[in-house]
Amino acid sequence: MSPSCSCSDVEAVVAEVVSRHAAGRGSLIPILQDIQEALGYLSPASLRALEKLTGISANEAYGVATFYTQFRFTPPGRHRVQVCNGTACHVRSGGQVTEEISRQLGVGVGETTPDGEFSLERVACLGCCALSPVVAVDGKVHANVTPKRVSFILKDGIGGGKGEK
Ligand code: FES
Repeated sequence: MSPSCSCSDVEAVVAEVVSRHAAGRGSLIPILQDIQEALGYLSPASLRALEKLTGISANEAYGVATFYTQFRFTPPGRHRVQVCNGTACHVRSGGQVTEEISRQLGVGVGETTPDGEFSLERVACLGCCALSPVVAVDGKVHANVTPKRVSFILKDGIGGGKGEK
């Protein structure tokens, strides 16, 4: 679904997600995951719809979600840049790679560039630790990434949409 869908669309999506889960706070995380899967992010409207349907306040749901790096609170960009935050990538300078991507895109982790082109996410192990540190751009995994290779990866990953800075 488009991030610009109407409130009634959002309510319908959230209602469908809630209907697939058991009632109660124990289901909150899986519900939030499924809402994000369906809508691309946790919008204020989706959390208000969740409150209406479950009685779990939007503030509480937001507070819980902010504990987890997997949740987004802004619409995703057209191109999704995922930096691995798993142990193998972390010990092999994944943090420096993340900083360089953040610098080149001009946004922090969990944010989307103002033109809507890129969103930057930090994710758990991407499952290819021997190739660490790794970065995925629109699902394409790049291995042994260094800060110097970041601009190439961003260009290669999306077909030349972002140049060197
Ligand atoms: S820790 Fe990064 S791929 Fe496993």
